[in-house]
Amino acid sequence: MFGCTTADTFRSVIERLKQLEPQPDLLLLTGDLSQDETTASYKQLQNLLVPLSIPAYWLPGNHDSLTVMEPVLNQPPVFPEKTFSVGGWQFILLSSLVPGCVYGELSQASLAWLEQQLQLSTQPTLVSLHHPPCFIHSEWMDAIALKNPAEFLAVIDHYPQVKLVVFGHIHQAFDQERQGVRYLGSPSTCVQFQPETQEFVIDSIQPGFRLLALSPDGSYETKIERVGSTESFH
Ligand SMILES: [Fe+2]
Repeated sequence: MFGCTTADTFRSVIERLKQLEPQPDLLLLTGDLSQDETTASYKQLQNLLVPLSIPAYWLPGNHDSLTVMEPVLNQPPVFPEKTFSVGGWQFILLSSLVPGCVYGELSQASLAWLEQQLQLSTQPTLVSLHHPPCFIHSEWMDAIALKNPAEFLAVIDHYPQVKLVVFGHIHQAFDQERQGVRYLGSPSTCVQFQPETQEFVIDSIQPGFRLLALSPDGSYETKIERVGSTESFH
């Protein structure tokens, strides 16, 4: 992808993950897990994750096919569940995938399911989806974000246990607070996109991921890790 061998950079990220002390309790894969939507590509991902022995949960992005990935990404340590509880936090994973479209949208069924899950537990909650439900001040990317953010935010605003909304899609770090909720974007494990540009621009910064340290009282810290460098928790 744009001169970046994605499998190689992903392996570099895997190697960095192996070095983390302590090891993460789980991995959250926020979509675009394949470029060609083939069974082989998802098997390659599953095989790369097995040696880590870290539970991994996933949701689909615009480059994914749910029907192709679901039968593959379901063998431990990869789990297909879209709601679960770990370390006193509730996790809710949504599909904003619209087949054939780059932008995302949450269906009425997804929004109803989200609300249903939020009514079941008052644990501090992390909600994740692929497309950003907010503008990231990058004109071209904001045009292919979530198409119905107001409907999503109306649900989130109603449940104060939601502390974090985490998304993929944007290939860059992003951090914004809205009404007590942090909206976080993560670097890609392959090529990075330059923040706050009108048009698509590749960024030369390294691949990486976001670390989250979640406490049962609902507090949290987060930092970006890039292959070869570290930023501090904040
Ligand atoms: Fe995407």
